[in-house]
Amino acid sequence: MDIIDRALIVAREARERAYAPYSRFQVGAAIKARGHDTLYPGCNVENASYGATICAERGAVMAMVADIGAAELEFVLVVTDADPLAVPCAVCLQVLSQFSVPDTQVLIANLDSVCDRYTMADLLPHPFQF
Ligand code: THU
Repeated sequence: MDIIDRALIVAREARERAYAPYSRFQVGAAIKARGHDTLYPGCNVENASYGATICAERGAVMAMVADIGAAELEFVLVVTDADPLAVPCAVCLQVLSQFSVPDTQVLIANLDSVCDRYTMADLLPHPFQF
């Protein structure tokens, strides 16, 4: 099984654990850092104070940094059962961009397979940089 198939499984399993009592919209993510084998999962975790909600993609980034520190993302995979499929929100793109290069892959999946492939440069061509 290749790394993308494994990432889809990791993201799908994380999605099952999404805590989304308000939106009922479950999102799963899996990210891989270049030079590291681990796939870091993320799921959305909502809050009664809606703005405190953490998206799946940002959760995955936090898991990666907590484990190995800052690292360059090779790819990000996002899975939903939505139509149209969900792409990372603008806040998540900004957070992902901190650890991305322009050709970091952003893979958009449904429950069965990866359907769309973008790069970070496609989705956020001008990230904020400090
Ligand atoms: N959500 C994500 O997890 N990732 C995104 O990129 C956009 C939205 C979550 C947040 C919230 O729990 C639900 O989807 C509906 O907005």
